[in-house]
Amino acid sequence: MLTEELRAEVARLKRERDAVVLAHYYVPPETQELADHVGDSFALARLAATLPNRTLVFAGVRFMAESAKLLSPEKTVLMPDVTADCPMAHMVRRETVDAARRQYGDDVAVVCYVNSTAEVKSWSDVCVTSSNAVRIVRALPQRNVLFVPDRHLGRYVASQVPEKNVILNDGFCPIHQAISAAEVEALMAQHPDAAVLAHPECGPEALAHADVVGSTAEIIAAAEAGSASAYVILTVDGVRGELERRCAGSGKRFYFPATRPSCPDMDRITSERLVACLREGTGEVGLPPEDVAAAARATLDRMLELGAR
Ligand code: 13P
Ligand code: SF4
Repeated sequence: MLTEELRAEVARLKRERDAVVLAHYYVPPETQELADHVGDSFALARLAATLPNRTLVFAGVRFMAESAKLLSPEKTVLMPDVTADCPMAHMVRRETVDAARRQYGDDVAVVCYVNSTAEVKSWSDVCVTSSNAVRIVRALPQRNVLFVPDRHLGRYVASQVPEKNVILNDGFCPIHQAISAAEVEALMAQHPDAAVLAHPECGPEALAHADVVGSTAEIIAAAEAGSASAYVILTVDGVRGELERRCAGSGKRFYFPATRPSCPDMDRITSERLVACLREGTGEVGLPPEDVAAAARATLDRMLELGAR
């Protein structure tokens, strides 16, 4: 429970450190409540590049804080728990990238999902998030695209951009991949009028049932704008709070798969750890070696140029 006293202390600590707290929709509800901005990966990356504050506290997983540091190297970037790491961020090997470059030469673009380490970004040509991947891949001059690390987002992008030859890597998000088609079908049978809104990190069998496929922010926006009174939501259940806030008074109902989709790494970002980080200034995120940082930053900058809207 967040007391008024604790909220006042957090406000004071933010002022003292000239800090702003950015939280992803997947972190626990109380952490989101203490944040200044809550958003999906793209919205947070764009904000991190433009906010004037001296300190950015990233309530999310490591690749998000690392991207913020790459985009604003002069700022102090803190994480409430430095061990919160996305397993998918590591699921690509250098040889995969080198093999594609050898095979296709100049006619391949290596596109990395933002859910990747700085090193993976440094091997790539452009970064994308789930909200701009289709648009950015479509706009690339190359016909061949190696999409890393997420095979499911890569497959979804390929289905939307058939004019490109999209080469898939074998990474995946364990949480979205575990959303089973059987559980989705059970929810659809129980709520036949519900619209199904899915994140593209889901596997193809679950995604085949989706009426709308989009990033977490797009899922929330689709539920808010939609005419259905019920929604089956296929993503991490941290989005529930924002869905309920944005649709308050509408009577809309939200149903998640029976096997609760929660991300153990995002769950590490508790309100207690956020407060401790603000009090003590712990969890500082550093820059990788300069050659890696420069190349990784270029992929993020390119995304912000191409993905800006
Ligand atoms: P978005 O924020 O782009 O929806 O990505 C979801 C995710 O898995 C973040 O880790
Ligand atoms: Fe990584 Fe999946 Fe967790 Fe997002 S939800 S941080 S992709 S493990």
